[in-house]
Amino acid sequence: MRHFLKETDLSLDEVSQVFALAADLKANRANSACKPLSGESWGLLFFKKSTRTRVSFQVGVHELGGHPVMLNAEDMQLARGETPEDTAKVLSRYLHGVVIRCHEHSLLETFAQKGTIPVVNALSDFLHPCQFYTDMFTLAERWSGGDVGKMASCLRGRKIAFVGDTACNMGNTFALGCAYLGMEIVLCGPAGYEPQKALYEQFAADGIEPKFSFTTDPEAAAKGADMIYTDVWVSMGMEEEKARRLKEFRGYQVDEHLMSLAKPDAFFMHCLPAHIGEEVSAGVLNGPQSIVFDQAENRLHTQKAILAVLAAANKR
Ligand code: CP
Ligand code: NVA
Repeated sequence: MRHFLKETDLSLDEVSQVFALAADLKANRANSACKPLSGESWGLLFFKKSTRTRVSFQVGVHELGGHPVMLNAEDMQLARGETPEDTAKVLSRYLHGVVIRCHEHSLLETFAQKGTIPVVNALSDFLHPCQFYTDMFTLAERWSGGDVGKMASCLRGRKIAFVGDTACNMGNTFALGCAYLGMEIVLCGPAGYEPQKALYEQFAADGIEPKFSFTTDPEAAAKGADMIYTDVWVSMGMEEEKARRLKEFRGYQVDEHLMSLAKPDAFFMHCLPAHIGEEVSAGVLNGPQSIVFDQAENRLHTQKAILAVLAAANKR
């Protein structure tokens, strides 16, 4: 059984397939014959809030021929102490797959081990791989010049600067994903937000070199970047640290000055939701270099492609 819990759960060949299929699904959304989930019911189990992921997966499962079953963890017996192990076993008797947004990454692994259906990571405290491949597809659309065959190769060697909360799920995801795809990734945040042990352990488990760098200097990170990325300073579940974080991250806002240090044709990206005036200025978020709403749209096309590639792998 193949799952998608982290960037490295797709082979590099499958990543190319995802990009090509996402481009096709986007171009032919109204009349696509790609229906790999026909006759299937997929659970969408959320322990955290969501706008983009929830809606794009619900629409995406439907468009692939499947039936999405929305599951709010708060409304389930999980919230009254039923174990994830038993929940995974029970849901496997009804569903053909499950997409999960949760706190501890280990919950995804428990579902994958104890259940008998494919599990897809819709964000954990550790990684957000659906967002990562969507973001890479969004860049590849631009950098490949429309040549689908070049979508994966046009990413290699590009310099990505991730500025802000480098120790959060998006920082981890970019470190792992960019290194996997052969991109240069510079993580930039205040001291104390260096990449954590769990990230190094993931690299070791995947047998790939931890090729990323960390700096506390935003100007050095931005210099010559092909794309600057940021994410909220207070991720879901960290609300108690808000006051401290707002102070510590001061000076790490992606603003017009920081963008001016990147390449002239560099893009600005953000997984959204944005907190304007904190991690990003209004001018950058809504400016000509920002492609944040393309990212948001591409969640739909890329996730459909991931589900289709996973379905094909699981039928083999
Ligand atoms: N980027 C993202 O995952 O958005 P949501 O939290 O709205 O799903
Ligand atoms: N780091 C953010 C990402 C939201 C999509 C969070 O976990 O809240």
